[in-house]
Amino acid sequence: MPTRAECLALDQVDPLASRRNNFVLAPELIYLDGNSLGPLTRSTRERLVATVENEWATGLIRSWNSAGWMAAPTRIGDRLAPLIGAQPGEVVVADTLTVLLAKLILGALDLRRDRSVVLTDVANFHSDLYVVEAMARRAGRPITVRAIDRETLDDELGDDVALVMLTHVDFRTGEMLDLAGVTARVHDAGALMLWDFAHSTGAVPLDVTGADVDFAAGCSYKYLNGGPGAPGFLYVRSRWQGVIENPLPGWLGHARPFDFELDYEPAPGVQAFVTSSPSVIALAALDGALDAFEGVTMDELRAKSLALSDLFIELVEERLPGVFELVTPREHARRGSQVALRHDGAYGIIQALIARGVIGDFRAPDVCRFGFTPLYVRFVDVYDAVEHLVDVVQRAEHLDPAYATRLAVT
Ligand SMILES: Cc1ncc(COP(=O)(O)O)c(C=O)c1O
Repeated sequence: MPTRAECLALDQVDPLASRRNNFVLAPELIYLDGNSLGPLTRSTRERLVATVENEWATGLIRSWNSAGWMAAPTRIGDRLAPLIGAQPGEVVVADTLTVLLAKLILGALDLRRDRSVVLTDVANFHSDLYVVEAMARRAGRPITVRAIDRETLDDELGDDVALVMLTHVDFRTGEMLDLAGVTARVHDAGALMLWDFAHSTGAVPLDVTGADVDFAAGCSYKYLNGGPGAPGFLYVRSRWQGVIENPLPGWLGHARPFDFELDYEPAPGVQAFVTSSPSVIALAALDGALDAFEGVTMDELRAKSLALSDLFIELVEERLPGVFELVTPREHARRGSQVALRHDGAYGIIQALIARGVIGDFRAPDVCRFGFTPLYVRFVDVYDAVEHLVDVVQRAEHLDPAYATRLAVT
């Protein structure tokens, strides 16, 4: 079993170690929740001050032109594109993830009008399930949504399936699906593929081009550190641009918004999926946050992420044998960047850890989630987090009556 000194030695030789300095994090804080809300970067703080002071306060309305506010959704989309393996012009930053999924679901259903089934995962994030049901009801023809056990996908892929919508890394278990393999099987069945990348972007290498993905959407407040409620992003493969329609057209997706024409004519490219005015301050925060990814490859991040989660699993199993059920797959190819442990007292365990300065989160009914974000988590953090976990369990701190009532956000 690795010792604390060995973990400190790993940090000494870690080529990513100095990147923690880019984040505003208290030195002693063990932050294992970047899979839910990424921390503030120094760059974001500077960008926000500059945007507010120079562009908004001083530049005022002139900044729409002089500071390039109008182009921010596609400009930042292009910055984000390499993180998912997309080409320039295929990604736009706007709205939030659920809203973007709604747009893509309705748009995609229109491209397969001879088909009437949407497949999704019964274990999908609840927002995805709500929105797919609601959009199916509004598709203008009868559509059946089947929320299936994803293991049975191949059996369900009949010639009536128009669209398959899956989340690439399961929010609860951290299981990662085979992006290229699933997309290929969906295409073989003549259906379209829409991926939710909420827990993938900035966490694992993605290659939407190589995997021939049709559509995808994600959020930017988790591994991308864009800030609470930061905008989402949408990917439309170039071959579908100009073909798929934005079902929520607005003036900023028009070819000539300032001509104020009465008829809608979509802008070329992915801009057509923009509906409303860009959220300039939130976009500036994300733009600053993306600086943290400059000069580092997703493969480098992935290598450290797996080393961190391997270490965590090993230490938990050595120190607390039989106490937790490991929910996250052990195989690297099936593991995202988080580890989920099942325990009846999961909520109290997470609260007791938070009280000790080790931040993870709880997902009902019984899962402790720990995110491993290689830009700022240290190997020694993993060691210390497990030490705290051992103490919490051995001292039964999780049974403290203070944790009997759950907070609104868990
Ligand atoms: C997998 C997944 N899909 C969708 C969402 C919803 O995102 P938003 O609140 O940006 O609509 C989340 C939020 O955490 C998520 O984890």
